[in-house]
Amino acid sequence: MTPYVADPVYFNGQFLPLSEAHVSPLDRGFLYGDGVYEIIPVYSRRTFRIDEHLKRLEATLAGIKLRNPLDLAGWKAVVEKLVAAAPWEDQSVYLQVTRGADNKRDHAFPPASIASTSFAFSSPMLTPSAELRASGVAAITVPDQRWARCDLKVISLLANILARQQAVEEGCAEALLIRDGFLKEGAASNIFVVKNGVLLAPPKTHLMLPGITYDVVLELAESYGQPLEIREIQETELRNANEVWMTSSTKEVLAITTLDGQPVGNGKPGPVGEKMWQWYQDFKNTVMRKG
Ligand code: PDD
Repeated sequence: MTPYVADPVYFNGQFLPLSEAHVSPLDRGFLYGDGVYEIIPVYSRRTFRIDEHLKRLEATLAGIKLRNPLDLAGWKAVVEKLVAAAPWEDQSVYLQVTRGADNKRDHAFPPASIASTSFAFSSPMLTPSAELRASGVAAITVPDQRWARCDLKVISLLANILARQQAVEEGCAEALLIRDGFLKEGAASNIFVVKNGVLLAPPKTHLMLPGITYDVVLELAESYGQPLEIREIQETELRNANEVWMTSSTKEVLAITTLDGQPVGNGKPGPVGEKMWQWYQDFKNTVMRKG
């Protein structure tokens, strides 16, 4: 079986085989889901937008009042070492920090003397296959039952998990989250809509994760002159869209061609999404070629 986690992993300042990294059952990540994470894509062993990912990590840590255990250079050194040791050219590096383990269970923060727990590992980066891109994927809509700080990339993901699982059980790849009649994002992706040639993107608010891929898509739309509106998208607009796509560090730009059992547009990936996928690949290639 192909390994999913490369050895060594990073764990509390050390590089160890995964089998030697042990977490206390009192760790607040385990007890409360009290922690944060990041996923950084790596192409041809070059990190993609690492500064932006580490900035979002910093913002999420600040949002949950947890001190960053490493500075920017420290995290970069960890990521570089994991990437160099892993057997794959294209990787996705996972980082996690939790509020550590006290000697008891108490909702309030542990004393400042309790160290946070840091964990990072690299896995192979598996982007969607050409066949999947050609067909697009199916999605469902579900009510957004998450808390009100969806802008923080925290590990407590139950509402996202339940939404994604419902999609899987209905033979779909993603669940689109609707709150108060508006599209927010997917269970683990940002969502874009195309109507009459115009790309519509929900705005960054506390009810959506500010995706790094989302930012790249907006930058590419602007630099290629793709008409773009950043504004709230009504559920009815979603249902009448010509194109719907999901974006994330691992899915890149992937068409959603069926929504709640109905075809999106003509039921095939649309021209704006195809162009955006190509622009995204070209952009990746410039990063990969950087010396
Ligand atoms: N998820 N929205 C949510 C809720 C997400 O979980 C993600 C990413 C995104 C896209 O963000 P980015 O473009 O920075 O990957 C949007 C990752 C891939 C995950 O949890 O597996």
